Amino acid sequence: MNYKDKWALITGASAGIGATFARAYAAKGANVILVARREDRLRELAGELEKAHGVTARILAADLSEPSAPQMIFDALAAEGTPVDILVNNAGFGMPGSYTDNDWPTHRAFLELMLVSYAQMTRLFLPGMRERDFGRIIQVASLAGLVPGSAGHTLYGPSKAFLVSFAQSLAAECDGTGVHSTALCPGFTYSEFHDANNTRGLVSQLPKYMFMEAEPVVEGAIEAAETKRAVYVPGAWNKFAAWLARTLPRPIAERMVRKQSARFRKKHA
Ligand SMILES: NC(=O)c1ccc[n+]([C@@H]2O[C@H](COP(=O)([O-])OP(=O)(O)OC[C@H]3O[C@@H](n4cnc5c(N)ncnc54)[C@H](OP(=O)(O)O)[C@@H]3O)[C@@H](O)[C@H]2O)c1
Repeated sequence: MNYKDKWALITGASAGIGATFARAYAAKGANVILVARREDRLRELAGELEKAHGVTARILAADLSEPSAPQMIFDALAAEGTPVDILVNNAGFGMPGSYTDNDWPTHRAFLELMLVSYAQMTRLFLPGMRERDFGRIIQVASLAGLVPGSAGHTLYGPSKAFLVSFAQSLAAECDGTGVHSTALCPGFTYSEFHDANNTRGLVSQLPKYMFMEAEPVVEGAIEAAETKRAVYVPGAWNKFAAWLARTLPRPIAERMVRKQSARFRKKHA
């Protein structure tokens, strides 16, 4: 697919999977709109992409845990007549610890970023895609949204499960149009995610086969969005884990997750 003259908006583009999406879409000819809080990083990436691929790269610094941010982004682009043909909702982080380790304002901001901003960005940009009869919407969910909830990171799995279901609903609603909706469900992926939430020490003890580089995750997701897959799980190990979660009787799957969580926590307490 060549995306020349298309515009791809990627949230969380200053690092990891989001920056990889930006590089991949720009390499395929798309102009990009890069969104995250760290403006310096966005500017550097925009320069790199314009130089390497001759595309236009716009940056919009925004904190998507602020309720006003999605509308601000939409208004800024509408004012200059920039369409969004590809929307990658990706910004996110993990919050380790048990539910009561964090106060409600912290959880609320987490939900605002991980749920509300994804739903609102989609609501704002979908009508334009429908009008032009072309759109690709990728919600970056997680394998954690496909397996039973485990101890710690309490709202993370539920927020990702929401995105999986949301992408499926949108895919059903947009079927027969030029708009495709996909939930990307990566497992452990090399990025800054585990540095940002101070769990690098823990996860670096996991076997290497459980990890993927961001590039194949992103290339697979772009392909999945083209081929109208509502849910895409990259990598053999992640596919196996998703298959197990789907196939095992629920009580057995839940018991496995509980045991594994307990072992992991005890070992690393
Ligand atoms: N890495 C994994 O193992 C893994 C696995 C499954 C799913 N995921 C999902 O993949 C997505 C991307 O994570 P990643 O692995 O690429 O992590 P990352 O390298 O830490 O990147 C996270 C990105 O999100 C942005 N971000 C965080 N909070 C934000 C906010 N309040 N407003 C705007 N942008 C914000 C960060 O930019 P600024 O700090 O500059 O704002 C950064 O660009 C997340 O949704 C994550 O849940 C990751």
